Amino acid sequence: MRPLMRSRLAWSLSLVLVAANGCSRHKEPAAAAAPPAVAAPAAEATPAAAPAAEAAAPAAPVEPPLSYELRLGKQVFQHYCLICHGETGAGDGFNAFNVEPHPRDIGDPAFQKAKADPDLKDTIRRGGVGVGLSPMMPPWGKTLTTDQIDQVVGYLRTLKRPDAPPAS
Ligand code: HEC
Repeated sequence: MRPLMRSRLAWSLSLVLVAANGCSRHKEPAAAAAPPAVAAPAAEATPAAAPAAEAAAPAAPVEPPLSYELRLGKQVFQHYCLICHGETGAGDGFNAFNVEPHPRDIGDPAFQKAKADPDLKDTIRRGGVGVGLSPMMPPWGKTLTTDQIDQVVGYLRTLKRPDAPPAS
């Protein structure tokens, strides 16, 4: 029994060794081939990607960075107003469809032209009720400071879309 066990042990050991050897023999070429296979596309991709990014850059809209005041206004807008008025002021916020009438499109150039800053500030301070608009537009005079109202109106002005090209 003992010699048999020993020979079995030897067998299985040698099997393990063969397996391990086989593995390492299989792995070796793969491991040797791997680094260049990985490195080559990466090295090629960098120069190839760079011109593509450069080519795409001019197509992206060039937006001037917002001033500090306008960034504060943006914060106010995103915190209090976006939920109804939507990211771009289009009146498509998450909550817009619960309020009737829906908030108008603040980016509309005609709307922007029709309303002077004091009008907008008044509406924001006193809410829709205060100025004969829908009560769905809440009053913000107790929530926002005068400065914050100035800032958010400044930000609303940045949401104005370019005027439509004149019909010719
Ligand atoms: C609960 C939803 C809601 C929230 C929040 C909200 N609004 Fe409004 N807002 C409205 C609705 C609805 C109207 C449209 C009222 C109408 O036309 O009768 C409106 C209208 C307006 C108008 C246009 C007024 C006009 O002259 O026609 C401005 C400007 C405005 N909101 C600014 C803001 C600002 C700034 C905030 C954040 C501080 C804000 N709103 C938050 C619902 C909301």
